[in-house]
Amino acid sequence: MGHRDFLSITDLSSEEIQEIFSQARLHKENIPPASLAGKSVVLLFEKASTRTRVSFEVGVARMGGHPIVLTPEGSQIARGEPLRDTARILSGYCECIVMRTFGHDRVQEMAEWADVPVINALTDLLHPCQVLADCFTLQNRFGTLEGKKVAWIGDGNNMANSWINAASLLSFELMLACPSGYDPDVEIMADARARGGKITLVRDPAEAVQGAIAVNTDVWASMGQESEAGLRRQAFKGYAVTGELMDRAAGDAVFMHCLPAHRGEEVAEEVLEGPRSIVWEQAENRLYVQEVIMDFLLRHEGR
Ligand code: CP
Ligand code: NVA
Repeated sequence: MGHRDFLSITDLSSEEIQEIFSQARLHKENIPPASLAGKSVVLLFEKASTRTRVSFEVGVARMGGHPIVLTPEGSQIARGEPLRDTARILSGYCECIVMRTFGHDRVQEMAEWADVPVINALTDLLHPCQVLADCFTLQNRFGTLEGKKVAWIGDGNNMANSWINAASLLSFELMLACPSGYDPDVEIMADARARGGKITLVRDPAEAVQGAIAVNTDVWASMGQESEAGLRRQAFKGYAVTGELMDRAAGDAVFMHCLPAHRGEEVAEEVLEGPRSIVWEQAENRLYVQEVIMDFLLRHEGR
């Protein structure tokens, strides 16, 4: 039985992304249809989460479905039950699996063995749900992203990699400023460029934000990198998004952050809490976009 997964933004075409955005606008304005009535969705979290966990749980409930949150410690996963066994067991009970984990290979293994759609709720490599919702937020504000410039400042991490994927599908220019040694994934960048993506990697944050409509950053040490935090703080000196850096972007530029944020590290308090910050809107939009992703995958299951 065929099913479609959402492990990366590149699992969708540009047309499908626009279809998802149109539906998400309706979900934002109205009570969503009860398209998950009688259906259950397992939310498996192998890392901490506030936004993703709550937005998926609320989203499933808003569409009349039943969400089940599973953690390794609260299940047989921490006791060593193989993921491929868990995948087949969960497929017998639920209609969709949402998974947050460390290595991207784990979410791929889940998708390979599960018989229902699998959604990537963040891996070390990618965070597609967040960036799709972020592009929805930007498109709502600026009308279209085509030909616009977006800046990424800081770590070439899971968020940066997903922004690279998004740039190639939504035809915006992406300029990333990352310190040496913290570049985004080389293969993801090459693939995105091969798809026609206008992606540039520089070292100077001021160059990256010039003319950008959105300035993005993220924590300097992601989940799983806590022991490197001191080292990274040194390496990322000069990569903080300050008011002065924001002033170098386009006049109507917005500040974006997937959150949680470290005020005074990667972003100044005045920027995060300032008038150009759209971080709360970004977080809220996760709900609507993810509702539509679940709906979309279940409709396109090919059963
Ligand atoms: N932005 C994001 O994914 O937040 P959580 O880690 O709280 O889910
Ligand atoms: N890059 C961060 C994103 C958190 C939502 C992490 O992986 O921890």
